[in-house]
Amino acid sequence: MNYKIMKKHFLTLVLAFLPAFAFAVGGGAKIDHAPIDISDTESIKRGAKHFVDYCFSCHSAEYMRYNRIARDTGMSEAELRENLIHTTNEKGEPTKVGELMKASMSDEYAKQAFGIEVPDLTLVARARGADWLYTYLRTFYADPYRPTGMNNLVFPDVGMPHVLQSLQGTQKAIFKTETRQGVEVEVIEGLEIAQPGSMTTEEYDAFVTDLVNFMVYLAEPVQNERRSLGFKVLIFLAIFFVFAYLLKKEYWKDVH
Ligand code: HEC
Repeated sequence: MNYKIMKKHFLTLVLAFLPAFAFAVGGGAKIDHAPIDISDTESIKRGAKHFVDYCFSCHSAEYMRYNRIARDTGMSEAELRENLIHTTNEKGEPTKVGELMKASMSDEYAKQAFGIEVPDLTLVARARGADWLYTYLRTFYADPYRPTGMNNLVFPDVGMPHVLQSLQGTQKAIFKTETRQGVEVEVIEGLEIAQPGSMTTEEYDAFVTDLVNFMVYLAEPVQNERRSLGFKVLIFLAIFFVFAYLLKKEYWKDVH
């Protein structure tokens, strides 16, 4: 086999195994299933409020308008103003209901504060998946070697502070020793609440479920409509089939 062909084969082999490497880099932390229900509009409403209260100071959801959420979840304008709109525009006027959900923090300020751009979260549920988000928001743990004092199981060395710490409390990592290729290493076995927050674990999980439900809605607001439309189309096809069949019988009746 000549050198060129060998190189090609080697490259193919590397490419074939790339997904496996990517998985290994992920740290292999267990991803929990997010018990969300996208048709539950009350949960989406609560999640939207949590989002504005706890995430919106840093993260935008720039591709979403306030009044779209109101329409999709059946919120009145008064409810919208009370729960979701707390900002003013550049002229100091209250934000209009039809405006995009742009966070007040500028990109330049974010870069200064965090050393990185704070990502927009409109589409994050599509990029990361609901289960990842659900796990991410529940697996921050104390790590004195990090500038924020916190690390994360599924996002190692994350730059985001644990903004829900007052609710969840502070978790600490429980380590165990494993032998990998003859070398003893400390690995994280699990997390444990070291200092309780204002919520119990069940309450906190429910809070995060609503938040993730909202983010899944945010990433694809038409999904409920799409599902109900799909159902209507199937009913239409079923009825259409009956008529098409009767028509066919009528056309062919004299042919035999
Ligand atoms: C104090 C500012 C701040 C607040 C408040 C905040 N975040 Fe973040 N967030 C960040 C920064 C900075 C990053 C980038 C982290 C990195 O790249 O290391 C980030 C990253 C993320 C990511 C990962 C995005 C990706 O795919 O890489 C998600 C998801 C996220 N935040 C969700 C949330 C949610 C949900 C809330 C509200 C509960 C929230 N954040 C509140 C600063 C913030």
